[in-house]
Amino acid sequence: MRAITIPEFGGADVLRAADVKTPEPGPGQVSIDVAYAGANFAEILYRRGVVDVPLPFVPGIEVSGHVRAVGDGVEDLRPGRPVAALTIVDSGGYAEVAVTSADLVAPLDGLPLDVAAAVPSNSTTAFLVLDRVARIEPGESVLVHAAAGGVGSQLGQAARLLGAGRVVGTVGSSAKIEAARAFGYDEVVLRDRRPDGPFDVVVDMVGGPARRAGLDLLAPMGRLVVMGNASGADDVGLSANDLWFANRTVSGFNLAAFSAAHPEQAGRALRRAVAAAESGTLRVRVETLPLERAAEAHRRIESGATTGKLVLAVAP
Ligand SMILES: NC(=O)c1ccc[n+]([C@@H]2O[C@H](COP(=O)([O-])OP(=O)(O)OC[C@H]3O[C@@H](n4cnc5c(N)ncnc54)[C@H](OP(=O)(O)O)[C@@H]3O)[C@@H](O)[C@H]2O)c1
Repeated sequence: MRAITIPEFGGADVLRAADVKTPEPGPGQVSIDVAYAGANFAEILYRRGVVDVPLPFVPGIEVSGHVRAVGDGVEDLRPGRPVAALTIVDSGGYAEVAVTSADLVAPLDGLPLDVAAAVPSNSTTAFLVLDRVARIEPGESVLVHAAAGGVGSQLGQAARLLGAGRVVGTVGSSAKIEAARAFGYDEVVLRDRRPDGPFDVVVDMVGGPARRAGLDLLAPMGRLVVMGNASGADDVGLSANDLWFANRTVSGFNLAAFSAAHPEQAGRALRRAVAAAESGTLRVRVETLPLERAAEAHRRIESGATTGKLVLAVAP
């Protein structure tokens, strides 16, 4: 089958189209004829070698398409069913056929396949981060960094759906303020201008000064969730004693590790996100590029210039 591979770690130029063996589903797994594959910051980390993966490697942590075949023990999914799926545990989404655990599949009920490919990673993460990790309560205030991005565009809306009060986003450039506002943020500010705090929940996937500011802006009993380091900044040192004295909590979340350890729970969150997108309460904005232009998608994400989500058309 046709796939985009990482033959060696490096810049976007290392990505290569190649013919690779078509994967078959094992027990408890399904294979999917991929229609669209989401393009994510995570795949850039694999390509750069930040996450050590065996080479050559087929990236791709989420797809939409139709069930192709099911492995032993899979009862509730049949070939031909339109689905969205997390392929985040073993990757392989930038390909004509992808395999994943049946737990990490959501049947679709009318959601367009291009939009469905953008839901599994970012929208699922948004619900898990706010609900399971930050344990948001009705009326609480939320600050989200990189609010116009793939996951940022979902966090503000998920916060609202979970009953948040004031929801504020930060962006890196003024060109993104309107885009973030369109995703439902009450206020959007440039990241180098500190918003009026404090906040009960801060979600940081940018790192560096944004993480430090997020910590400083926490209300007593506030929770900072660390879920990425898009800026590539050095790690931020935290004082446990300061957390103690100020009644603050810092947590981390990683969807890949969570999905590997708790596939049933990740699958439930995925199906909740898909249902929200199907009902129209969660808006997902996608722009499509053909699979062969995966390197261009990576360059655009790495430039920090994208808003919403890029998806790769495999067999639309
Ligand atoms: N832990 C998890 O499970 C999980 C799940 C999903 C995503 N993530 C993380 O969340 C972050 C965003 O992912 P995404 O897929 O939503 O990507 P994205 O749409 O490209 O968002 C990344 C954003 O980060 C900001 N940014 C700041 N410094 C940057 C730099 N040096 N290079 C590029 N971007 C920079 C940019 O927004 P501004 O212009 O507003 O600064 C950019 O749009 C990534 O760090 C990713 O690893 C983590």
